[in-house]
Amino acid sequence: MNPPHSLRLVERDADGVDLAFRADVLAGLSEPQKAVPARWFYDDAGSQLFEDITQLPEYYPTRAETEILSSRAADIAGLIGKGRAVVEFGSGSSVKTPLLLSAIAPSAYVPLDIAGDFLRASSAVLAGKFPGLAVLPVEADFMRRVELPDEVAGLPKLGFFPGSTIGNMIARTATDLLRSMRETLGEGALLLIGMDLVKDERVLLAAYDDAAGVTAAFNRNLLVRINRELDGDIPLDAFAHEARWNDPFARIEMHLVARRDVSFTVSGQTFDMAAGTSIHTENSHKFTKRSAQMLLAASGWEPRARWTDEARQFSLVLAESRPPRSAP
Ligand code: AVJ
Repeated sequence: MNPPHSLRLVERDADGVDLAFRADVLAGLSEPQKAVPARWFYDDAGSQLFEDITQLPEYYPTRAETEILSSRAADIAGLIGKGRAVVEFGSGSSVKTPLLLSAIAPSAYVPLDIAGDFLRASSAVLAGKFPGLAVLPVEADFMRRVELPDEVAGLPKLGFFPGSTIGNMIARTATDLLRSMRETLGEGALLLIGMDLVKDERVLLAAYDDAAGVTAAFNRNLLVRINRELDGDIPLDAFAHEARWNDPFARIEMHLVARRDVSFTVSGQTFDMAAGTSIHTENSHKFTKRSAQMLLAASGWEPRARWTDEARQFSLVLAESRPPRSAP
C-alpha cells in the first residue's frame, strides 16, 4: 500500500513547474560559488546520457562493479544467505540487479524510487525475468525512512545501493542517508554498497571528461533543463564542461565554467557570472578501504566483507547494521 503522501512526492505549481527544482536552482545560483544539486541531472535526456556514459571506454565504474557481482557471486551469496528481502535504493534498470537476485535467491524484491513511472516499468521488466519472486515497488524518497510493504515485515533485509551513488553526497548527507537506511531496513539488516576507489588522477579525470564528449553533454543538459522547465535563457555556448580532482576531499567535481562574462535569467531572476567562474554541478567522492570503513561506521554499519574488481578500481562492501554502543 502506498502512503497517502505518495501523490505529492513531486510538487508542481499551476504551470507544472517542479517546485523543489526551482527552489534548488534559484538558491544555488544565488550563492557565491554557484551550485546545483546533482540529482537534477536526471530528466529523461539526462538519464539516457548517463546510460551512454556507462558504455564509454573511459567510464570504468559500471563495468568494474558488474565484474565484481558476477565473478564474486558465490562468495557474496554465501555471506548473505537465502530468503532475505532485497531493498534496492533507486530502482534497478541495470544489469546489476538481476546478477544479485539470481545469485542470492531472495524472498522478495522491493525497489524504492521517487520516479513512479520509471519504477513501475523497470519493476515489470524485472518481475518478468524472475517469475515467482515477489516484486513490491515502493514510490518513495529514500533519503528519509521508508515504510516497507507488510509482506516483508517479518523478513531479514538486504539493502542494495550500487553505482557509488553514495559518492555523490557530502559526508553529512551520506551519513544521514546511511542512518535512515538502517531505520528503513530494521534490525539484523545487511547492506551491499558500491563505493568507487581513489586512483590515478588521470584515470579519474578521463572518466569524467571523456573524449567523445558525452559527460560534457550530460553536464550541459542541466542548463538545457533549466532553460526548458524554469523559463531560462542561459546561453549554452557560454559554458564549458570541466572535471576537477579536489584532493583534500578526495572527489571529482564537475563544473560548468563561464567562458566569458555572462548574464542570464531563470524564473524571472537575473544572474551575472564573470568569465572563469563556475556552477558546481556534481561531487563524486572516491574512497579508500579506510575512508569507506569510517563513513559506514559513523552511520552504524559494520563492514563484514569487501570485494574489488581485478584492476582494483571499485569496491563492493557488505556491512551489517549495528546497534549503537558506547564501549570501545
Ligand atoms: C551517479 C554516481 C553513478 O558519480 O560516477 C557519471 C554519475 N557523473 N559521470 C558518478 C556521473 C558523471 C555517477 N553516479
